[in-house]
Amino acid sequence: MIKPGLSDRANSLKPSATLAVAQKARQMKAAGEDVLAFAAGEPDFVTPEPIRKAAKDALDAGLTHYAPTLGTPAAREAIAHKLGSENGIAGLTAKHVGIGVGGKLCLYNAMQVLIDPGDEVLLPVPCWVSYAPQARLAGGEVVEIQTTGESGFKITPDQLKAAITPKSRLLILNSPSNPCGTMYSPDELRALASVIAEAAQTIAPRLVLITDEIYEKIIYEGREHLSMGSIDAIAERTVTINGLSKAYAMTGWRVGYAACPGEFGLELIAAMDRLQGQVTSGIPTFIMPAIEVALTQCSGDVAQMVAAFASRAKLTESRLSEIPGVNFPSPEGAFYIFPDVSSHFGKTAPDGTKITSAMTFADALLTNQKVAVVPGEDFGGCGEKHIRISFACSEDQINAGMDRLAEFVGSLG
Ligand SMILES: Cc1ncc(COP(=O)(O)O)c(C=O)c1O
Repeated sequence: MIKPGLSDRANSLKPSATLAVAQKARQMKAAGEDVLAFAAGEPDFVTPEPIRKAAKDALDAGLTHYAPTLGTPAAREAIAHKLGSENGIAGLTAKHVGIGVGGKLCLYNAMQVLIDPGDEVLLPVPCWVSYAPQARLAGGEVVEIQTTGESGFKITPDQLKAAITPKSRLLILNSPSNPCGTMYSPDELRALASVIAEAAQTIAPRLVLITDEIYEKIIYEGREHLSMGSIDAIAERTVTINGLSKAYAMTGWRVGYAACPGEFGLELIAAMDRLQGQVTSGIPTFIMPAIEVALTQCSGDVAQMVAAFASRAKLTESRLSEIPGVNFPSPEGAFYIFPDVSSHFGKTAPDGTKITSAMTFADALLTNQKVAVVPGEDFGGCGEKHIRISFACSEDQINAGMDRLAEFVGSLG
């Protein structure tokens, strides 16, 4: 019998390599084993109280019906105001902003309304796991731009210039970066913006920048975050993606947004409205007032969480730097360190596992020392030599985990 089968689109979605390790860690935990997980992509804090209260009050006030697809005018206005006053993105109104189910869906929707089959999507790698699959689902051709730890996993203006062609439709930047934990300086971003502006005048008139700034607030040691949308020369071809997940410890709430100024911004957001209206509609109505509260009343809560992340970043860095053959740039933002562990490839773990890749390193670390990290293969490029360590956990756990990692590395023969 011929099976009904799935679409080519469904078949193109490969299972994630990292899921296998995550699944094994879950099974070990469920079996009562003392697994220390450094794999989380989310803050370990509870959402600040004023935000929770706003949602509870809204529920009690009966805000339980459909909301407008891209959010209430007040919530969209609050985001437009935040992006203007905090990020320096000029000319945004509520209509230049759309709210969707997490930054993830906003990215997906933006790609769906921008990419035609065959359009090139420039992607500095290693990068967050969903960019390439989302670009391909929209029919885009992914063009990777390679980076290394030595350059802080950042592309140079020359690399960008060399990658742009008449088919370039999108460049996706993510600073601070998941998985790399590094970020571009304002000057580095301005230099990239000049390349984009020039290419848009010459060989790539349809080029649009998507800048994923979801970790903008989680930055260390007085570094400055610059929003690319604030740079005049490219503002009206720059789509800013952000959300409340990381800064406000709201991953489970699913609040993300996209914004872009000017006539093009209005056209883009209206298209995202039409698409989202056929797919998810709006996010829950009772969350709308909580968005306004988060953006206007919770800077103190954010500062406290960021201070905790900063201290964990320092601790993780100092503990990791004592472990031989584990090389990484210092964490600058987000809550990840992305060390190169390839100097251990070719060795054998106590249980007999031959370490040949980040995947086998992570698997053997889990089996032998019950420490879960994310192997870097799924992030692309040189990620195959790296593991991602998330320090969104207590300092006690960091100390215990780094003890175990040191023991694991010491045990490799
Ligand atoms: C770089 C990056 N962008 C976007 C997202 C999406 O976040 P959310 O959909 O929770 O807003 C994540 C989540 O892990 C991320 O790390």
